[in-house]
Amino acid sequence: MAGFVDDGADEDSVGRITEALINALPDPVLIIDGGTRVVVSNAPAREVFAGLRNGDALAFAVRTPGVLEAVQLVLAGADRQTVLWHERTPVERLFEVFVSPFALHGRTHAVLELRDVTEARRVERMRVNFIANVSHELRTPLTSLLGFVETLQGPARDDPIAREKFLAIMSKQARRMARLVDDLLALSRIELNEHVRPQTSVDLVSVVRHIADTLEPMARDAGVAIKIDMPLQAKISGDRDELIRLAENLVENAIKYGGGARMAPVVDIRISQSIAGTIFTVCDNGQGIAPEHLPRLTERFYRVDTPLSRARGGTGLGLAIVKHIVARHRGRLEIESQLEQGTLFRILFPMDVNNNEQQQ
Ligand SMILES: Nc1ncnc2c1ncn2[C@@H]1O[C@H](COP(=O)(O)OP(=O)(O)OP(=O)(O)O)[C@@H](O)[C@H]1O
Ligand SMILES: [Mg+2]
Repeated sequence: MAGFVDDGADEDSVGRITEALINALPDPVLIIDGGTRVVVSNAPAREVFAGLRNGDALAFAVRTPGVLEAVQLVLAGADRQTVLWHERTPVERLFEVFVSPFALHGRTHAVLELRDVTEARRVERMRVNFIANVSHELRTPLTSLLGFVETLQGPARDDPIAREKFLAIMSKQARRMARLVDDLLALSRIELNEHVRPQTSVDLVSVVRHIADTLEPMARDAGVAIKIDMPLQAKISGDRDELIRLAENLVENAIKYGGGARMAPVVDIRISQSIAGTIFTVCDNGQGIAPEHLPRLTERFYRVDTPLSRARGGTGLGLAIVKHIVARHRGRLEIESQLEQGTLFRILFPMDVNNNEQQQ
């Protein structure tokens, strides 16, 4: 690397130390001389500014006026400057750029240090969206509840028929809010434990049998037939409560959204074994999901805006919970769907860690 070579012996060793130092740093760092040329850069910096060589003008790599201005200011004697640099190619990235004065060989230089804040910004945006979504989902039933309370205190005070009707609606709204809060708590609990794979041996067959029994009345009311095909037992390493939640949401979705197609609605639940592990599938012959929605289906609050979906009034948290439970169980979730044909959710659970026979 050039840069420090022209200087005297002492200066040369200072240069080498500086160079070794910035090469030891994980973030991209550049040193710029009084003529705004790059004196030295570390490997992460050369990765960001592909093709940049020592001796090149900084303007060759960075065209953002804010960064160049900050460098000029620092070279003219200003203190540390912090600017944001939005890079759009080859991938969109956001850097926080710190430009600090640095005396090298008795002359003022500028050190540019880049901190990649793309991920932090994305997480921040998600957090803000999440809060907006939660507030919105809670505010709708809450507004309605308050409206009914006012009506019951005022105009409907002495109307027993209206009172019964409104109380029933209020109870439904309050239950919806309670469920939303429950789901949010479950989601955060599962996420907190996601790095710990559950170790208990759980029989998936008994979980599914339990859910099929629980949801049988709902299926009957919706005119949906449930077909089950499973072995006598299927042990996986799992958390029973989480697996119940997972099966419940998939089967409930299949019953809720499975209707509406031409055929008589059937929900097909299967458990089978493969070399890779245990496969659990829930399949319906309902309205299906358009391909553009599939990648976003497991996002929190994501709902496909169909009349059926709107009428069912879910919160859109179920599949987000399923996704995190699958991740915690080190499994794989696949969704296949065809409009007017139906939807299939397939989960592969890896071998039971407790079952050595199966593992060999
Ligand atoms: N089997 C299915 N067939 C068609 N659409 C489905 C099916 N399962 C889910 N969906 C669509 O995916 C969306 C998200 O499902 P998810 O389970 O996350 O939320 P939800 O059922 O709306 O609410 P929640 O499960 O929190 O009560 C649903 O609103 C629905 O539009
Ligand atoms: Mg659901």
